Amino acid sequence: MNLLYEFIKYKWQAKGRHGIHSPFVYDFVEKVLKNKLNSKELNQANEYHNFLQRCDIEIEFNEFGAGSKLLKKTRRIKDMFALSSSKGKYGKLLYLLVKHYKPEKIVEFGTSLGVGTLQMHLASKSAEITTVEGCKNTHAFTLKNFPLKNPNVNFILSSFEAFCLQEVKNSYDLIFIDGHHDGEYLLRYLRLLDDQTHDNTLLILDDIRWSKSMFDAWKKLSTDKKYHVSIDLFRVGILVKKPDQAKEHFILQY
Ligand SMILES: C[S@@+](CC[C@H](N)C(=O)[O-])C[C@H]1O[C@@H](n2cnc3c(N)ncnc32)[C@H](O)[C@@H]1O
Repeated sequence: MNLLYEFIKYKWQAKGRHGIHSPFVYDFVEKVLKNKLNSKELNQANEYHNFLQRCDIEIEFNEFGAGSKLLKKTRRIKDMFALSSSKGKYGKLLYLLVKHYKPEKIVEFGTSLGVGTLQMHLASKSAEITTVEGCKNTHAFTLKNFPLKNPNVNFILSSFEAFCLQEVKNSYDLIFIDGHHDGEYLLRYLRLLDDQTHDNTLLILDDIRWSKSMFDAWKKLSTDKKYHVSIDLFRVGILVKKPDQAKEHFILQY
């Protein structure tokens, strides 16, 4: 996977809001991608980021997914924060998606340090968030250090597979898959979760260009007739079934 080549291709193809006829996608560009945040909105997240950035604690990491290309088995929290947390513009994207679409039920695959979880929680404290993590030491660290007391968040220690196979069924409004970056597994999790989605569920897939297998899976998903809207933001891909609109694929500047 030649990321530089892929990036140039993406930049060449990516559109702004002009020429977008889908009202849903036009609104997404205006209200989410172009939204400027008030600088105070994410104060609590910034404080947590400052703590993580300086945190020298080391944990033994139990690898569940495809594995980091850069981190070893014993990991410092500050390195995990630097390399695998949703901060910067991708953290804002999560925040704004939740703020704008107001999903009531959210599931996140890959809690890690809870950085993405916190962004989503700050955007809507009433949203019920379930977040799944397979590494027990990471799960324990995040449970202990998550900066808000009694948030509306269920921190679950489980493999993604076991979570997807459980009997209890939900109807999620937003599903964020941010771990186990292997294309075959991504397709499998989406198949298993399909009956827990509805026509407007937002499927947010991180690291669609992390490897060839992830990108192949993304290409398969974005051409799947089931999803009428697919949006490529280079690192993140978004899918929505939206059967009420014509099938269209969007590569958008972000
Ligand atoms: C990139 S990090 C998640 C970052 C987080 N979502 C954020 O927004 O900051 C991926 C996490 O997924 C977990 N993970 C990967 N594959 C998994 C699997 N198959 N089952 C359970 N957890 C998994 C890893 O342990 C890791 O903590």
